[in-house]
Amino acid sequence: MAVRHFLTLLDLTPAELHHVLQRAAEFKQEHRQRLYTDRFKNYVLGMIFEKSSTRTRVSFEAGMAQMGGHAMFLAPKDTQLGRGEPIEDSARVMSSMIDIIMVRTFGHSRIERFAAFSSVPVINALTDDFHPCQVLADMQTFIEHRGSIQGKQVAWIGDGNNMCQTYIQAARQFDFELRIACPQGFEPREDLVNANRDRVSIVRDPKEAARGAHLLATDVWASMGHEHEISERRRAFGGYQLNRELLSIAASDALFMHCLPAHREEEISAELMEDPHSVIWDEAENRLHSQKALIEFLLTH
Ligand code: CP
Ligand code: NVA
Repeated sequence: MAVRHFLTLLDLTPAELHHVLQRAAEFKQEHRQRLYTDRFKNYVLGMIFEKSSTRTRVSFEAGMAQMGGHAMFLAPKDTQLGRGEPIEDSARVMSSMIDIIMVRTFGHSRIERFAAFSSVPVINALTDDFHPCQVLADMQTFIEHRGSIQGKQVAWIGDGNNMCQTYIQAARQFDFELRIACPQGFEPREDLVNANRDRVSIVRDPKEAARGAHLLATDVWASMGHEHEISERRRAFGGYQLNRELLSIAASDALFMHCLPAHREEEISAELMEDPHSVIWDEAENRLHSQKALIEFLLTH
C-alpha cells in the first residue's frame, strides 16, 4: 500500500476530507468528556519546525499525547538538518524510526523532497505556499457553526499568501465560491487561480469580496519570512482590514476567521476579534481535533 501524505488539501479526495472532518467532530466530543483512548499507543510523531509556531506545535503534541502516543519536537538548530544534512537523508533515517512526521518549512519543494524519501506519512504543517492543516480546521469550524459550506460564498481579504492559496484548493475540494480581495502585486499564484477559474476570482475592492459572503477570512500582511517587508506591506494593505464595515455588508449570518497570530488594527480591527460573529477561537481549538482525525486517517490508510 502506497504511503499517504498530506502536503496539500488535494492529497485527500473530497469524500476523504469529509470523513476526516466527521471524525474531527467526534474527537472534539471525546476531548470535552476527556474520554481518551490509547488508539496510537507507542506511535511517535516527529515535528520538524523550521519556522516558529504556537498553535501547530501545541495541537500536534497534545493530540499525540491524548491518543496515547508521543511527539518529538525537532528544531533545526539542534539537529543535523540545521547543519546542512540533506533533507532526503533525514527523511529516510527519521521515517525508519518513527511513524508519522510533520514538517513546517519555507519552500514547498522542501517538504515534497522530504515526503519523496519518507516511508511514513508526512504532514504539511505550513510551507510558503500552503497551510492545509489550518484550512482543515477552518472547514471543521464552519461546518460546526453553519453546516455544509458547499455552494457558499467565501471572501478572502488581504495577502495572496499560503492561507489564501490553501483556500483556493479548499474551494475546489469543498465546492464553494471564493472571492479574493488583494492589492496589486500580492496575488496568489496564477496557476492556482487559473486552474480554479470556475469558482475563484480576484477583485481589488474588499467590499466587492465581502458583499453577501457567508465566511470572511484574513491573515497577517507579512507572513513568516516576509517580516522585513512590513513597512511596504502596511502601505499596500492599508484598505484591506477585516472590520465591522465589511461585516455589515456580508450575509447576516456571516462568520469570520483568522488563523492567528493576529495583528490587531492591521489586517483585523481589535473589536472584531471579540465580535459574536467571530469563530477565531474555535478555529484555533479545532486544530487539535482535526489533526487527530488527520493522523488517524493517515495511519490507517
Ligand atoms: N495558525 C497557526 O498555524 O499558528 P502557529 O503559527 O502558532 O502554529
Ligand atoms: N501566513 C502566515 C500564517 C501563520 C500561521 C505565515 O505564513 O506566517
